[in-house]
Amino acid sequence: MTNRRIAGAFAALLATALGMYAAPANAQGDAERGKVLSYTCQGCHGIEGYRNQYPSYRVPMLGGQHAAYIEIALKAYRSGERSHATMRAQAWSLSDQDIKDIAAYFGTRGEIKDAEVVTSGVERGKEKSQTCVACHGERGVSANEIWPNLAGQHESYLENALLQYQLANKEETAGYGQRNNAVMAGLASTLSKRDIKDLAAYFAAQDGLYTTKKTD
Ligand code: HEC
Ligand code: HEC
Repeated sequence: MTNRRIAGAFAALLATALGMYAAPANAQGDAERGKVLSYTCQGCHGIEGYRNQYPSYRVPMLGGQHAAYIEIALKAYRSGERSHATMRAQAWSLSDQDIKDIAAYFGTRGEIKDAEVVTSGVERGKEKSQTCVACHGERGVSANEIWPNLAGQHESYLENALLQYQLANKEETAGYGQRNNAVMAGLASTLSKRDIKDLAAYFAAQDGLYTTKKTD
């Protein structure tokens, strides 16, 4: 190796070391910074009852959701594993640290919300949910941070999410979008339209997630 190359290699090492010193990675996520970064997100997620236009379903509640899951979800939009165009546009420019900080902000626990009034068969949904509760919990509050809480989430959103898993890796989704998550795609593939409606109703009917306001 020439002296010049050694000097170059040393400079690169030094730059890496300085870079790490200048911006220490915050493994926990900084909820205060996340709050600032989330300002634009609240234009949709912070408005009670706000809807995705086509297909029509409610924008998901993020308040009380597990931080680790929010991180996974945002990375899935960023990578294209989830196809929703608006969320892809929101996530593509976020760094890993931005995502961690945003997740820490939304994941901080607040008041759990009373369940919403649902339109489908809660009792039948409860029976059907026996295959779901090992991960999502008896009443939709999951034990592991990497599995989403479903309790109190909007019925129409849960329904559309299940459809999106059924449409995993399909060429055409008729505007519903898709989520190419292998675990949920396998589980959703066995569900009928009615199963999906009733399961969404059951989890939406539990007390749980809430809409985070800009002032929170
Ligand atoms: C124009 C409205 C809009 C804006 C702005 C927006 N979102 Fe979303 N967000 C949505 C919709 C609609 C969905 C559901 C997408 C789907 O069906 O996959 C969603 C889904 C999500 C999810 C997945 C939730 C879950 O339970 O899986 C997360 C996390 C999320 N958004 C975070 C953010 C963050 C962070 C920002 C700001 C950087 C943001 N959103 C900005 C409308 C919006
Ligand atoms: C083996 C564990 C496991 C089981 C069992 C399971 N899920 Fe999931 N579920 C997951 C994981 C992991 C995700 C996140 C996938 C992703 O990243 O898109 C998820 C995501 C979801 C979502 C999207 C939530 C959101 O906020 O976007 C819904 C809805 C859902 N599951 C419903 C169900 C239903 C209904 C059942 C039973 C039929 C079920 N799940 C069974 C692990 C599981």
